[in-house]
Amino acid sequence: MTIMRVEGVTFGVEDVAECSRFLEDAGFRSDSTGAAGGVTFRTPVNQYLRIVPVDSTEVPPPVDAGSTIREIMWGVDTEASLEDKQRKLAADRAVLVDDEGAVHAVDPIGFGVAFMVTQPARPQPAPPIYNFHRYHAPRVNDLTAMPQRSNPLELIHVAVDIPQSVREEARAFYMGRFNFKATDDADDVGVFLQAEGDLLHHNWFMCHRTNKAGINHLCFEVPDFDSVVLSAEYMIDRGWRESRRLGRHTFGTNVFRFIYSPLGGRIEFAWDMDRMDKNFQTRKWTKRPGGHSIWMLKGVGGRGSE
Ligand SMILES: [Fe+2]
Repeated sequence: MTIMRVEGVTFGVEDVAECSRFLEDAGFRSDSTGAAGGVTFRTPVNQYLRIVPVDSTEVPPPVDAGSTIREIMWGVDTEASLEDKQRKLAADRAVLVDDEGAVHAVDPIGFGVAFMVTQPARPQPAPPIYNFHRYHAPRVNDLTAMPQRSNPLELIHVAVDIPQSVREEARAFYMGRFNFKATDDADDVGVFLQAEGDLLHHNWFMCHRTNKAGINHLCFEVPDFDSVVLSAEYMIDRGWRESRRLGRHTFGTNVFRFIYSPLGGRIEFAWDMDRMDKNFQTRKWTKRPGGHSIWMLKGVGGRGSE
């Protein structure tokens, strides 16, 4: 009865061609040109990133003007789990079942929320090998090769802004009805939610800092520290704009770099996010400890904080 991961996202966008170029530059391959001018991209672990024209009626209406996220698809472990999610959605809202059996509804914030049985691909990239001091130096006669372009592995979280008016209802929906667990719950920042079947610090972040609904960012895990830096460098070389400089988050402690996205919001390249299992106790905060980041590069360009 478990939600495993983000299975896909759908955005309604003003310029499908420009957004396709962005996603190709970010390192995703398109696998189809769908109906009504939409395009679907895939992550290496077989999650979809779908873009449809902004006026598409195939997806729920936008919560915000312009290009933005329209639906988040969650991957569940079994058919029985899918039926469970359908039943829980149908308790108080309209549910649509598509030709492939996925179930779709609208959440209390106004975002499309959907469930399907997860279909992960399991690539096995070799873990990075680091030399450490004199007595642990496993990389011998093996010179470091750097990525030549953006190289994301997986969409590890979706971050959205939510207005105060629906905060309690949204928490009840995701935490109460669908068993997302808060890892960090900070009144002044938002609630970081972990899907029941995952170990990541968060798969879903409902951010309180703006009192409106919208996409904040998509986060893609990359294989190593260098890839955080070089994925963003590649995007900047391709003409995209940095939103936040290299740093390490206070919550989740991943290394990050952010790029503005024409799909709406931003994308984050991330490495070394915290993992926590059922033994981890929710941390509650009225005010975030420390700042936004444990560290962040000083320098010109990009935003220094939020
Ligand atoms: Fe993030």
